Amino acid sequence: MQSLKSDVHIVGICGSLRKYSYNRGLLQEFKKQLPSNIKYTEADISELPFFTEEREQSLTETVVKLKQLIESADAIIISTPEYNMSYTAVLKNALEWLSRRTLQTPLAGKPVALIGAASIQIGVSHSHLRDVLYALNMKLINRPIIQVGNAGGKFDEKGNLIDAGVKELLGKLKDEMVKVSANQ
Ligand SMILES: Cc1cc2nc3c(=O)[nH]c(=O)nc-3n(C[C@H](O)[C@H](O)[C@H](O)COP(=O)(O)O)c2cc1C
Repeated sequence: MQSLKSDVHIVGICGSLRKYSYNRGLLQEFKKQLPSNIKYTEADISELPFFTEEREQSLTETVVKLKQLIESADAIIISTPEYNMSYTAVLKNALEWLSRRTLQTPLAGKPVALIGAASIQIGVSHSHLRDVLYALNMKLINRPIIQVGNAGGKFDEKGNLIDAGVKELLGKLKDEMVKVSANQ
């Protein structure tokens, strides 16, 4: 029987760079609920250059650091809002960097959970993103589904989650991710 890992590391990627982002609020609440023996790091995708193939010839430190962080992860959690009924350009840019052969894509085979919040409704963005995660050969954690629409009343003015129902769902996702990560 395969033994469970004791040094689990989960990496979060936030698809919004907004200071008081609802999506960062979801990740922060997820982190808060993790047991103390699980390491959590949020990736910094804010300073990545726009991807072009020429820029692959000389990778910036931000790209290399992101790749190393993802390599060290047992599982990834992505939280993204819906922008014009899709996911955000900053997230797409990060995934394009991470998908390239020059980086020997560190995403392949990793479990990934997809959650998000938006001020009106959310769903189509996640459908689009699921196709990309499939292309990257990631293992999607499908339940619980966490798509927080009408987010305005569910977070305080600093982006902290205040909705008990969503907190409970994040707790269920945390249990699932801890289980899956320990088996990596
Ligand atoms: C360019 C842009 C497009 C947006 N499109 C949508 C949309 O399609 N559906 C929606 O519910 N909200 C939309 N919004 C509003 C976002 O849901 C809202 O800004 C949300 O707070 C973003 O998440 P964040 O708080 O994590 O930054 C859009 C916002 C921007 C800036």
